[in-house]
Amino acid sequence: MKYPWWKGAVIYQVYPRSFHDSNDDGIGDLKGIVEKLDYLRWLGVDAVWLSPIFKSPMVDFGYDVSDYRDIDPVFGTMDDFDLLLEEAHKRGIKVILDQVYNHTSDQHPWFLESKSSRTNPKADWYIWMDGEPGKPPNNWRSFFGGSAWEWCEERKQYYLHLFAKEQPDLNWRNPQVREAILETIEFWLQKGVDGFRFDVVNMFYKDAWFRDNPIGEDGQQYNVFNIDRPETLLAVEEIQELVERYPDRVTIGEVASPMGFYAYLEYTKPGRLNLAFNFEFMHVPEFKASLFRKMVEDTERIFEDLSWPCYVLGNHDTRRVRSRYDGENSIERCKLLATMLLTLRGTAFIYYGEEIGMEEAVIPYGEIQDPEGKNLWPEKPGRDGCRTPMQWDDSQYAGFSRVKPWLPVNENKREVNVAHQESDPNSLLNHYRSLIELRKDSDVLKWGKLQVLESSQDVFAYLRSWRGKRIVVVLNFLGETTSAGLQLSEKAQVLHSNRRQPGKVCSLHDLKLHPYEALVMEVE
Ligand code: GLC
Ligand code: CA
Repeated sequence: MKYPWWKGAVIYQVYPRSFHDSNDDGIGDLKGIVEKLDYLRWLGVDAVWLSPIFKSPMVDFGYDVSDYRDIDPVFGTMDDFDLLLEEAHKRGIKVILDQVYNHTSDQHPWFLESKSSRTNPKADWYIWMDGEPGKPPNNWRSFFGGSAWEWCEERKQYYLHLFAKEQPDLNWRNPQVREAILETIEFWLQKGVDGFRFDVVNMFYKDAWFRDNPIGEDGQQYNVFNIDRPETLLAVEEIQELVERYPDRVTIGEVASPMGFYAYLEYTKPGRLNLAFNFEFMHVPEFKASLFRKMVEDTERIFEDLSWPCYVLGNHDTRRVRSRYDGENSIERCKLLATMLLTLRGTAFIYYGEEIGMEEAVIPYGEIQDPEGKNLWPEKPGRDGCRTPMQWDDSQYAGFSRVKPWLPVNENKREVNVAHQESDPNSLLNHYRSLIELRKDSDVLKWGKLQVLESSQDVFAYLRSWRGKRIVVVLNFLGETTSAGLQLSEKAQVLHSNRRQPGKVCSLHDLKLHPYEALVMEVE
């Protein structure tokens, strides 16, 4: 049986503004990415997912699209994109595009037309509601703060925006809108892209009666009627049907739902999306074996053979994983998490810079760029801290650009940079690279089933097996030597570890682990 490529894949997220600047304007661009494709090939990833590169006023840095079929000049031209696609494919790297279809920019021609009158041909392409100034139609809140409704003088009506007011929500109940979006998807399929990441895909439809969301005792609003509406699944099936007409493409949904696993599963049932980001690792509050073990057990139990799991440690909306947990030795702990990410059963996502241990930057209030941070500071500092320039070397702007970048380069660039870590065999970067290599050559790691093993409390251990071959992974979450506590009596050979040489044979029943050791072994 042939498995689709994306099941065993490692997918690398590039935030294009922050990856590499080729033309000295302080902002990353497509040619900059092309210049770094050899790095990505060296790292061994199967695919890159590019955060939005389309024409945009950049209120939400590309997640506010004003033309779905053109490249924003800040990133380059369509020729640059064609070049990127060609050069990536030459190197065996697939390209996945971010598609933002819950909303457009308020500068999209569709919205400009829609807001011009109540009777224009696109009058019903967005979500318009009657009301009076100061009295929005219901209590829904924008995820970036304030009411989700904005008054429009031209129409003397409100429009809905679940994000910034410059990001009006499309009306998915209008068949013309669905049609227009399917056509856009097809445009990129015909160009030869290898897949899509669908932004907030569980928000496309809203409650048909626009009922108020319930409010909890703490005054918090529950997102019940503005997201996760069942109709959305029908739209997803329509999209999937189109994409499946083109071989070897992948669809990935950002299902940002309070229902977590349940929603991920719903969106990835047969005929729906191939993958839904499993965000649960990002919510683990402490660096503890039991907490990560629970997430994996839940993932395995819920997904079973019903759909294919995936794992994510970080992305452009979340605090960088290295900065998430207090305590020392954060690099050793990142190595452990990398070993876990790359040996679990499921597609693995890496957020740019994670592989060198980039840290969350503190951005002073006056320099905040992100609309979330601008509106909600200090309650929420915004997401700029995880979007700072990729650190290629220790030069003034870390090899990202020759001019001052759009966000400051992190102070730690001296050690935390690609050049430095490339030449250090014990670096986090080489840890990632060798694990990806191991995974690539191992059907057990790519496809094998997973069984969580009994182990001592601070250890998380699991067995992967495939056609008689078995690999055991043992992770010590403690900064001390620990006995693994495995109930296995076989011997096993080290394939990969942050603390011992590959090739050594150990017996599993009295296995002792070094502090923060992440050990991958083949059972003999
Ligand atoms: C998604 C994106 C986020 C963006 C939002 C609105 O959550 O990941 O960056 O701000 O959608 O498009
Ligand atoms: Ca540039």
